[in-house]
Amino acid sequence: MTIIGISGSLRRGSFNALLLRAAAELAPAGTTIAIESIREIPLYDADVETSTGVPAPVQALKDTIAGADGLLIATPEYNNSIPGVAKNAIDWLSRPPADIPRVFGNKPVVVMGATPGPNNTLLAQAAWLPVLRTLGTAYWSGGRMIVGGAGKLFDADGRLTDEPTRERLRKFVEGFAAFVARRI
Ligand SMILES: Cc1cc2nc3c(=O)[nH]c(=O)nc-3n(C[C@H](O)[C@H](O)[C@H](O)COP(=O)(O)O)c2cc1C
Repeated sequence: MTIIGISGSLRRGSFNALLLRAAAELAPAGTTIAIESIREIPLYDADVETSTGVPAPVQALKDTIAGADGLLIATPEYNNSIPGVAKNAIDWLSRPPADIPRVFGNKPVVVMGATPGPNNTLLAQAAWLPVLRTLGTAYWSGGRMIVGGAGKLFDADGRLTDEPTRERLRKFVEGFAAFVARRI
């Protein structure tokens, strides 16, 4: 079973990318979390879409998501909402609309998030919900992974070392993997 993991941050050393890496490490036997990047996705431009279609990196990621069993998004929180680069990526991935059911329709999806601040990304995670509903995904609401104070939870190599957070993440990933398994 393969779950695609996407971090909504381009930052080197992103806490969300590190959280995703830890999730991949903690995934249960039989589940692979394959981490993909949104770095090559350009800004959405309807003129580009009309003249040359969906750019190659967007098409490649669409096909990867379509071929996977689930999708795990690690989102930062910017101004209490979704960071622009992450929303932009999803917007490109939703083009053309006729292809949305293939890529996102009934796809098991969940969002988690980390911030160095005290507010734990709950507002960003909530902001994803109408987006993922619009795309027709099967959102897993059986668990929640919110991480505040992320600056204290990883070591110098970027490994999640805080045991309580690792345990929460392990349970979260197990829960989502079980949900995905029930749907395939
Ligand atoms: C434009 C901007 C807005 C931000 N707004 C919030 C916010 O609303 N809540 C929050 O917890 N952190 C906020 N932050 C701090 C981010 O959580 C922090 O930069 C974090 O490291 C981003 O995630 P990353 O480590 O995965 O790149 C903001 C950062 C930026 C650049």
